[in-house]
Amino acid sequence: MFPTKKPDLQADLGKKEHRIYTSRNLRKTQKSKQKIPHMPKLSIVIPTFNEQDNVSKIYQAVSVTMKHLDWEIIFVDDASKDSTTDKILELSKESERVRLIRRIGRRGLSSACIEGMLASTAPYVAVMDADLQHDESLLPRMLDMLEQDKDLDLVIGSRYCQNASTGTLASHRVRISRWATLVSRFFSKTDVSDPMSGFFMLRFSMLEKIAPRLSGIGFKILLDILMSSRGRCVTEELPYEMRSRQLGESKLSIKIAYDYFLLIADKTIGIYFPIRLLMFLMVGAIGVLLHLFLVWLLHIQSQVGFIEATTISTGIAMSSNFLLNNWFTHYDRRLKGFSMLKGYVSFILACSVGATINVLVADLSFENLGIWWMAALLGAVFGSTWNYTMSNILTWRPREV
Ligand code: GDD
Ligand code: MN
Repeated sequence: MFPTKKPDLQADLGKKEHRIYTSRNLRKTQKSKQKIPHMPKLSIVIPTFNEQDNVSKIYQAVSVTMKHLDWEIIFVDDASKDSTTDKILELSKESERVRLIRRIGRRGLSSACIEGMLASTAPYVAVMDADLQHDESLLPRMLDMLEQDKDLDLVIGSRYCQNASTGTLASHRVRISRWATLVSRFFSKTDVSDPMSGFFMLRFSMLEKIAPRLSGIGFKILLDILMSSRGRCVTEELPYEMRSRQLGESKLSIKIAYDYFLLIADKTIGIYFPIRLLMFLMVGAIGVLLHLFLVWLLHIQSQVGFIEATTISTGIAMSSNFLLNNWFTHYDRRLKGFSMLKGYVSFILACSVGATINVLVADLSFENLGIWWMAALLGAVFGSTWNYTMSNILTWRPREV
């Protein structure tokens, strides 16, 4: 029920307040308190993983350089183990310019950048690291270039063009980076001097066009963008001197090098054939060779009975296939500890059924076609399709969060 007596609004406002509280005034006051969603001109996406000492520093540095320009930062944090998330949340309470995307159960610099960029509503998006290695003072210039030149899609902060420098980066890392840059330039068919830079700004409309083609693998988001745009991206570069990391640790590891290889494979062969399936088939082929070698070794060389030799060889080949698939094919869903044991059992079960399907299909085809190699091939195709599908469902399930 509605209260019969109107609340004494005048009294509530205190003695000094003489404004008459009409319903029109009341509406006005409510409206002025309402937050009108604001669309900034530039979103700066900063991926973070264990960067507790850097988040407020990078925010300060960006604030100083961007001053009154219209910008926001979107941090994308992959459940850092230190207090990075809390530090960002604190910052977001102080400033409306700070947003946070939290990803749980997932890791990856490129995919974090993609999610951050796509969460933007701004017409321009930049990507830079949290560790202050990139020169944030270039940001206003990058924005200005994109605003002035409507044909320009992307401005890259380069470590390798004229007047640029890798700063104090260790010489072995510079050497590796230069080699990888040559490879990237070859495959991306661009003359960009630093296609592996982690510091750039682009037009959102361009990102939207290429987003469905992005692979999101590993560390090299710019290379992913350049290769996904298939040479149709107008770029310019600005030189900068890369600073050394003062706080926290680099996440560079051997896995990043493997990711780099996978990204190139996905962007070249992957357009025609899924890389994961290709690797699964390659592992399968290695398994067949290993199996044949072991049967030869046990049966021919060591006089073990044929059935025993085949059984032992099958077991070893299947186990080796499991390990290779776990390390390479499904590296991003790699099983460890007890899950590895469970995965091993489900893999062996799936493949045993696959082997039965192989034999049945081959037998049936031979009866009907009478061509032994075609029958064997059909059996192998059916068997491996089963193995691939079932092991994807049972053993290396994609992690859903
Ligand atoms: N969300 C998220 N998830 N962020 C990550 C992850 C991850 O799995 N791994 C690293 N980061 C964040 C780090 O917190 C940091 O802000 C940034 O990504 C770069 O990580 P570093 O570990 O410092 O990389 P780097 O310095 O070796 O290499 C960077 O700079 C190179 C030169 O520009 C990367 O950006 C390279 O791609 C780039 O080539
Ligand atoms: Mn770094």
